[in-house]
Parts: sequence; C-alpha cells; structure tokens
Amino acid sequence: MSILLFINLKGGVAKTTNAVAVAECLADAGYRTLLIDADHQCMSGELVLGESRQLKLEHKRKTLHDLLAAMLDDEFNAGQIPYFVENKVSDIGGGLPTLSVLPCSIRIDDFSTNMAKARRGHKSNDEFLAMFRKRRAKLRRWLEANYDFTIVDCPPSIAIQVKTFLEVGDSFIVPAIPDRLSVRGSLYLLDRIRRMGVKIERLGTLWSLFRKQNQMHCNVIESTAKGIEPYGQMPRPFETVIPNAAKIAEATEPGRNPSSFSAKYTPEFAKLYRSLCEEIVQRSQWQRAEANGAAVPVRV
Ligand SMILES: Nc1ncnc2c1ncn2[C@@H]1O[C@H](COP(=O)(O)OP(=O)(O)OP(=O)(O)O)[C@@H](O)[C@H]1O
Ligand SMILES: [Mg+2]
Repeated sequence: MSILLFINLKGGVAKTTNAVAVAECLADAGYRTLLIDADHQCMSGELVLGESRQLKLEHKRKTLHDLLAAMLDDEFNAGQIPYFVENKVSDIGGGLPTLSVLPCSIRIDDFSTNMAKARRGHKSNDEFLAMFRKRRAKLRRWLEANYDFTIVDCPPSIAIQVKTFLEVGDSFIVPAIPDRLSVRGSLYLLDRIRRMGVKIERLGTLWSLFRKQNQMHCNVIESTAKGIEPYGQMPRPFETVIPNAAKIAEATEPGRNPSSFSAKYTPEFAKLYRSLCEEIVQRSQWQRAEANGAAVPVRV
C-alpha cells in the first residue's frame, strides 16, 4: 500500500493530467486505486467522473471537504469514509472497477478562510491541522486496508489539506517541466517540506511536457542527471519522461468513451504510462522494504 502525492508549487506542470493517467494505469493493471482530488480547481475529480456526476456529488456533500469536516468531530470513525468515495470511475470502458475517487469542492478553501473558522468557534489553521492530526491514523489505516495505491492530486500551494496529506502520505512525486521556473518551484517545495519536518519520502521527479526540440529542456534533464547544482537537488528523476503531446491532452476531452486504457491514451502513450507505473511500483516497494528494515536491491 502506498499513498503518493503529485505535488509542485509551480502551477501548470501537468500534476493533474499525470495523476489521473497514473491512477487509471494502476487501476487498469489491477491495483485497487483511489484518486484523491485535493485541489479546489476540482479537475482530477471531474476528469474521472464527468461534469454532471461530479456536480451530483457536490450537491450530496460527498467530497474531500466534507470528509475533512467530518474529521473535525470527536465521534469521527473510519466507517464514515466510504460515504465520501465514489467507485468505478473513469471514462474507460464505462468505468474501471478498481478505480475510485474522492472528489474535491471549492468549499475546501473555507478551511483557510474565516468562514470555516466562524462556524467552528474561531479555530485557527493550526487548530484545524491539530484536529486532522488526531484522526489521521484512522484515515491512513482505512486507506491501507482498502487500496494498493492512493494518488493525491495537489494544488500548486501548501493548503491545509495538502499539509494533512503530507503528514498522511508515504511519498511524493514532483511533476516538473525541465525548465528553470519549474525546477525553482520544485526546490521551493522541497525546502518547505524539509522545514515542516514531516516524514514523507521523495519518490522521484517526473519530467513532464518535455519538448525534445527545446534545448533548455534537454540541458536541464542532463544537468539533473549529472547532479549539477541546483538541478542535482531534485528528487531522482524517473527514467520515463512524459512529452508535450496533443494526444495526451486530447485524452482528457469528455465524450470520447474509450474502450480501453490504450484506446484512451493511444498505444504509444499507454506504453509510456505503463513503464512509468512500473517504476512507481518498483520504487514504492523499495521504500516500503527500507521502512521495514529489509534488504533492498542496489539502486541504479
Ligand atoms: N503531456 C501533455 N502534453 C500536452 N499538453 C499537456 C500534457 N499534460 C498536460 N497538458 C496540458 O497542460 C495544461 C496543464 O496541465 P494540468 O492541468 O495537468 O497541470 P497542473 O500542474 O495540474 O496545473 P495546476 O497547477 O493548475 O493544478 C493543461 O491544459 C493540460 O491539458
Ligand atoms: Mg492540477
């Protein structure tokens, strides 16, 4: 079981697109997978639910915001969690049986504003965090019992729900365009995580939106591989690089109803995501083995 965050403080680096594709790919390979949309833009939820199903869940108050609100109560128990989770999602084959989603809501911002504080007797962000902290073991145990992989799509900020998942998660993936601004956003994130003192591990940098005709992209990838500063501070990149490709962006368009993962992403990019998922599974297993003190194969 692994809880993985897709996170970068730089916006628009394909966190959501890749989190959704990886969640679908893992589910398609038979892993019980939960996608958690932790971004108030609510895009990863919408991508696997479609607009109208997502709207229904918002009306029924079945979102991450509502789960977190339930976690503020002293009587909260893990038996309440399934109510907020929607099963058999994605447009692939009418829904993937092993893929579920916990969608987000714009109301999640209430936690960082006076609205939620007023309703809850003027609780500060730190007080909210402390309350989530008290119940995070219940959430983690429930995720462990029910899923092989939990993928958390984060906003480009350290919002209160992101802080909570940084405390609940096992490791994080940093999607980054191989250019200076994205790397800056990534390094800023790494610094923030270090200062927070959380135990979460780095799983790797995922080079995204790569254009091979862009010399700067090639140079950044090479400098990172050689450990040249500041690029050498990035988490060890995955060998799989996700290119800037119209077919990947088009896969997220509604109304296509693809019959399979390959049909959705095209055989070429489906193969690419499968090799990325193999790396993710492998690195997650290494990290678990390391955490349990077992012998770990030598890393390349
Ligand atoms: N491999 C790709 N090739 C071409 N376009 C892509 C690819 N991946 C993502 N995109 C496009 O890039 C844009 C940003 O992608 P996405 O929304 O996934 O980024 P993000 O990091 O989640 O953004 P935000 O910081 O706003 O959450 C979108 O328009 C998306 O369709
Ligand atoms: Mg996003």
